[in-house]
Amino acid sequence: MLIPNTFNIKAEADTYLAIRSERELIEALKQYSNPFVLGGGSNMLLTTDVTQPVFHILLKGITIVKETDDEVWLKAQAGENWHSFVMHSLEQGYGGLENLALIYGNVGTAPVQNIGAYGVEIKDVMYSCEAINVHTQEKRIFTTGECDFAYRESVFKGKEKGNYIITAVTFKLSKHNHHLHTQYGAIQEKLAERGITQPTPKQVAEVVISIRESKLPNPAELGNSGSFFKNPIILTDEYQKLQQQYPDMPSYTVDVTHTKVPAGWLIDRCGLKGYRQGDAGVHTHQALVLVNYGKATGQEVLALAYYVKEEVAKKFGITLEFEVNIF
Ligand code: EPU
Repeated sequence: MLIPNTFNIKAEADTYLAIRSERELIEALKQYSNPFVLGGGSNMLLTTDVTQPVFHILLKGITIVKETDDEVWLKAQAGENWHSFVMHSLEQGYGGLENLALIYGNVGTAPVQNIGAYGVEIKDVMYSCEAINVHTQEKRIFTTGECDFAYRESVFKGKEKGNYIITAVTFKLSKHNHHLHTQYGAIQEKLAERGITQPTPKQVAEVVISIRESKLPNPAELGNSGSFFKNPIILTDEYQKLQQQYPDMPSYTVDVTHTKVPAGWLIDRCGLKGYRQGDAGVHTHQALVLVNYGKATGQEVLALAYYVKEEVAKKFGITLEFEVNIF
């Protein structure tokens, strides 16, 4: 069976299991101890067919686990579509997830790479997550503090890689006095254009959606996995040297000694925006995103990614890292 993925890469799975409950997951793990975990297929590049058994995590359900006058603890099962869950929370009037609207993928895979956008990361709103140990089938609850979250990183990509499958995630959201993050990028400007001065969380999400739609390709129309590269974090000394040569190089301060620079800008400055090798290409509106114009293979997209990496290293002396998981 073909493995569904937002890059629209053709790759087959020898064994495919649709997992719809925790019990099914535990039973499957008793049979197979080396699963290939599939959520929304939105952060992977498949360069070969998959011989491991594919576990498609399809657990569904959204419940309130606790509520006070001001806050709500909302739990979503891992197979819920991330964007639908975000919109569901906003429909209830809850605040916290608005900046993370229109990110592809499912709830269960969102903590793995600590998804983030417009100044908010999942670590800022997550309360805990539940996961099943692949080897012992025991359930473990990870508090946010136990997840070792960092920029696009977590314990699930780090020291516990391959050891746990997330089954549900609980978020702590606001019911009133929402703490909105509207300073990042064009959010404030877009709200002003709409004449909104006191936005609701849903209005912030609407603006985020319109910004994302203008820059990022819709995988239903053009295969992609969002940002293919991470924004590199370099020494501030190094950044200052580069800035003398490229005064318009954008940056975000990480800490006293480190600065983050946008990979999209670096790739763009190499003249690669819109560059194509056959059906694999650098997106025309956002150079951070690699796209499949139709028939690209995973190997072809990977070859393009290495080419982009080389060009950026040659011009700026910066090593880009892949954000997307390569299989
Ligand atoms: N830029 C260019 N050319 C490009 C792309 C970007 O010059 O082709 C410049 C922009 O003008 C801007 C800067 O680079 O000055 C940053 O661009 P943008 O605000 O679009 O954000 P980004 O750093 O490229 C990151 C995340 C996105 C997230 C946005 C908004 C990473 C790897 N990517 O992109 O996340 O939506 O910020 O918060 O951190 C994703 O992870 O899939 C993703 C899309």
